[in-house]
Amino acid sequence: MQQDQWAQWVLRRRDGDNPDVRVRVAPVIGAYRDKVLDRAAIVPGDVVLDVGTGDGLVGFGALDRVGPTGRIIFSDISPGLLAECWRRATADGRLDQCRFVQAPADDLRQIPGRSVDVVTTRSVLIYVHRKEAAFAEFFRVLRPGGRLSIFEPINGFAASDARRGLFGLDMSPIADLLAKVWGAYTSVPAAQNPMLNFDERDLLRWARAAGFTGIELDYRAEVEVPSPLPSRDWAVLRKTAPNPLAPTYEEALNQTLEPAEREQVEAYLSAALANGATGHRTIATAYLKAVRP
Ligand SMILES: C[S@@+](CC[C@H](N)C(=O)[O-])C[C@H]1O[C@@H](n2cnc3c(N)ncnc32)[C@H](O)[C@@H]1O
Repeated sequence: MQQDQWAQWVLRRRDGDNPDVRVRVAPVIGAYRDKVLDRAAIVPGDVVLDVGTGDGLVGFGALDRVGPTGRIIFSDISPGLLAECWRRATADGRLDQCRFVQAPADDLRQIPGRSVDVVTTRSVLIYVHRKEAAFAEFFRVLRPGGRLSIFEPINGFAASDARRGLFGLDMSPIADLLAKVWGAYTSVPAAQNPMLNFDERDLLRWARAAGFTGIELDYRAEVEVPSPLPSRDWAVLRKTAPNPLAPTYEEALNQTLEPAEREQVEAYLSAALANGATGHRTIATAYLKAVRP
């Protein structure tokens, strides 16, 4: 069965369907999960709503923290990912503590007002056009005293930093070809692109406008920081895609380059990786927590 685009990415395209990449990336995303959960201050018995749950990274982490009397609501727009969460909850024998809701973050009407203790979400708002409405929904479903804990990359921070190549590798000797490849990733103008058209100050503003108090934001910016690569094998890296809406690197090369140009780029990257080239990242991230008064 063909999965929806969100499920395809979370379950396969994110790591090129490669188990070694999955193992290497797991501690990185696990650290994001743990910080979101720590900041949510979950206690046994809590009802936790994880919005845009994906394959349940944060949701199942929350399940381990709520104890036998707590409950988790896994919500997502992707039927494929909700089915994956359902399978895992069933396999773990914990289905009775779980509910699955197919809904967009900005319209959670299936979840009654003042019905949950905690709302978590990680790397989801970047895909939501109506972010302010999503914050209003998070506020509505929380009971008074309930906590919100979110993590989002602030992708606009690095969007104009075109100095580095794929995976933060130096591709300056083939800069003209790199510019063509980037074309596959910049088809939506930044102002209309929900992944790029907001920053950490917007997150604060939307949280305040929704009515939250006790708002705390942890912002981190990294510029040109050496960054471990998920693989040193270009044949593996080319099958990965940087986000659910983007082509894989292989697809991007096919879309934007002539066959001879493609060979040149692939030969350059294969050699750079084999020779131990280092990737560098320029990124910004934000954790926000808040309380419904
Ligand atoms: C980058 S994944 C993150 C998944 C998960 N939160 C995690 O931490 O692994 C983005 C998730 O957001 C979901 N998503 C995309 N647009 C959404 C929307 N408008 N409302 C709710 N979920 C959405 C996707 O289906 C996908 O599961």
